[in-house]
Amino acid sequence: MGKMVIYPGSFDPITNGHLSIVRRALTMFDSITIAVASKPMKKTLFTLDERVDLIQESIKNDDRIFVDSFNGLLVDYVDGKKTNIVLRGMRALSDFEYEFQMSLMNRKLNKNIQTIFMMTDYKWLYTSSTIIKEAASYGGAVGGLVPDVVCQKLKEKFGFQ
Ligand code: PNS
Repeated sequence: MGKMVIYPGSFDPITNGHLSIVRRALTMFDSITIAVASKPMKKTLFTLDERVDLIQESIKNDDRIFVDSFNGLLVDYVDGKKTNIVLRGMRALSDFEYEFQMSLMNRKLNKNIQTIFMMTDYKWLYTSSTIIKEAASYGGAVGGLVPDVVCQKLKEKFGFQ
């Protein structure tokens, strides 16, 4: 089966920054499961089904990439999988505190699970789903920051199409 990694997040919506992490992770792992949190702490713009569909449409056909969703604790979801490795992307220093807290909490909850981090490519350093949604909500052009299918869906959501 090979070495697999789990890449969890809200993916509300998936961005080119996320996809860059996925592609780069596949140079180290044989497969990656993008695990979409069904009810993240933040209220989401897209429903779980929409977030999963947008990922599926963005990754095209790559049999090394799986898309899944989970409810409840991440560590419980990972526990049932054939890997103990969780991947998170990091951008600027501002991500560090939150990621540090989360990985330590996950570690307290399950010592067997290891979180690893990849620094984002400089191109995506200052983009996030949140800031992209904000710009899109006012009709701002976010092409190039998200896959085309996401760009289209954002326009529809905010009534610009
Ligand atoms: O993309 P995000 O919003 O930064 O992803 C955060 C996510 C979904 C990975 C995190 O909130 C999560 O794992 N949620 C599930 C509940 C959980 O296990 N929380 C962390 C330990 S309390």
